Amino acid sequence: MENISITATFNVYPSVGQLPEDVAALMEQAVAVRKQSYAPYSRFHVGAALLLDNGRVVLGSNQENAAYPSGLCAERVAVFQAGAIYPDVKIIKMAITAASEQREVSEPIPPCGACRQSIAEYELKQDTPIEIWFMGETGKVYRSESLKNMLPMVFGGSDL
Ligand code: THU
Repeated sequence: MENISITATFNVYPSVGQLPEDVAALMEQAVAVRKQSYAPYSRFHVGAALLLDNGRVVLGSNQENAAYPSGLCAERVAVFQAGAIYPDVKIIKMAITAASEQREVSEPIPPCGACRQSIAEYELKQDTPIEIWFMGETGKVYRSESLKNMLPMVFGGSDL
């Protein structure tokens, strides 16, 4: 028997005020789009902003549905939109922010498993890392150098 050990490292920034300028600007757009999210059921609002290699920013917010599973997370709205509009342009960075109507979200909120799998598809496709920056409404911001770092043993097209 042998072991496989996988470690993941995240960079921790004390607040949005300490972010590099370009990331702060991207996070600001994620916050703005979060405020437009359609989340009447969970009252949990998520915004995602992608910086593409052509300088464009593509946004997404969670879109809920009375038939709950028909809704979609902010991150997938954003990456699917980027895939639809700019299919050949790489995604460089993603900024994510979440806020609740029920409590102050002061801890970083990571993308859910299904979103990680969806973002991974684009990272594998473009063959360069997508930086993931995520926060709550206030407080610390975490940075992951890639999506792969957040989804060890990813399942991808080469496994088929
Ligand atoms: N949500 C996201 O938008 N992204 C995530 O990664 C986690 C969850 C949304 C889905 C749903 O509208 C609400 O947050 C509560 O789960």
